[in-house]
Formats: sequence, C-alpha cells, structure tokens
Amino acid sequence: MQIDVITIFPAYFEPLKLSLIGKALEKQIVEIAIHDLRDQAPGVHKSVDDTPYGGGAGMVMSPEPWGAAIDQVIDSRDAQIHDLVVLTPAGQKLNQSMAQEMAGLSHLIFACGRYEGIDHRVTDYYQAQPHVRVRELSIGDYVLNGGEVATLVTLEAIIRLLPGVLGNPDSLVEESHSIPAPGDEESHMLEYPNYTKPAVWRGLSVPEVLLSGNHALIKGWRSKIARERTQKILGQTGE
Ligand code: ADE
Repeated sequence: MQIDVITIFPAYFEPLKLSLIGKALEKQIVEIAIHDLRDQAPGVHKSVDDTPYGGGAGMVMSPEPWGAAIDQVIDSRDAQIHDLVVLTPAGQKLNQSMAQEMAGLSHLIFACGRYEGIDHRVTDYYQAQPHVRVRELSIGDYVLNGGEVATLVTLEAIIRLLPGVLGNPDSLVEESHSIPAPGDEESHMLEYPNYTKPAVWRGLSVPEVLLSGNHALIKGWRSKIARERTQKILGQTGE
C-alpha cells in the first residue's frame, strides 16, 4: 500500500516512525511519503491561503498549490485508482468498516486542510477524474485546527489492519467494533474488559470466572459483559 500525505506541517507525521507503524514501514508493508504543500506555493511568501469569496471569518486554502501537489503524487504512482481523502469536520464520519475498506486500497492520498478548509473546487475537480475517487472524511463531531491529527488517527486505524502489522492477528478478531451486534447490521459490539496479573490489585480481584479455566463459561461471560457495555455506551445494541 502506498500513502501520500499533503500538509503544511510535515513535522506532525514524525510519530509514524514509532511503534507498530514504524515497524510496518521498515518491513515495507506500507510506504508513506509526506509532502509539504508549501513546496507548490508561489512567491517568496509561499502563501497557501486567501480570503473567502462571499466574506466571512478566516482564510481558505487556495486551489493552485493543492492541484499541483495532488497531480504530482498521482503522476509519481502507478496505481490504477487513486483514493483522495480530504479531512474535514464536514465529511463522512470514520468508522471501523471504512478503515477496513480503506485498508484494501492500493494508493491513498491524504489532504490535510487548515484554516476554513480547502477551496471546494479541488474536491469537485478530482471527483470528476476517472482515475481518482474522492472522499471527505471526519474523525468526529468536533473541530480540530486542521486535518493532520485526523490523518494520523485514520492512518493508525487503517495500517494496523494490514496483514503482518500486528504481532498476533487474533487481536483483530474480538476487538471493539469488529463484531456485528446481534440482529442489527449497522451496529458493532464493544469489547469485553480485560485483566492480567496480579489476580488481586489494591483489593480488587479479577472476575472469578476468568480464573476458572472453563473456556465455554469465559466465552459466555465475555459476550454478556460486551453486550451490557455496548448497550450502556452506545444505547440499545450499538450505534
Ligand atoms: N479538520 C478539522 N476538524 C476535523 C475533524 N473533526 N475531522 C477531520 N478533519 C478535521
């Protein structure tokens, strides 16, 4: 999988070198290139924004540097389809199924907007290109200062699903949001709580059933607690 990230703050992406994603990069399971949008900005001031047509607060990112930066990464990659992800609080909300779907794609381009966002013609233009698919993506109903942190979140959700990234792929099987809620196609269960040694910590004991060695009992207890948790947190069986 190839990933290109376009941003005015490349330093935000330093943490990708750490932990499991760092190892996935070393193992070449994924290749990530970070591009500075300002490299495509004209003039000595390297300006990437301007005032909004129609008035209003804040600045809007200009289409020219975005077009140049996106064209450059598309031209340098030989994928059949390029998936452009534009991070915006006005986008579709990220969930586990979307992460799963994106983990199956071959070339992802993340556009990190700042200020009041990117001139919308950039989305319109690439949506009309036959070899590009565009999605506007939000990581939740709150406003960040830009798309960088949202991109980091999305990248982590995707990359941990790629084969060979997690030491034990069984971790993916029972975790939150991976199991459909019974009788509800749209909902997913939250995971049961986990415990490790010591068996008693600050007077608190691990639930007895987990020490029983009875796998059927443990399975039953875990699914009961997971159901209760899902009901409490998400309401009903899930969101
Ligand atoms: N940019 C600003 N806020 C955002 C959010 N919630 N999700 C994605 N991108 C954003």
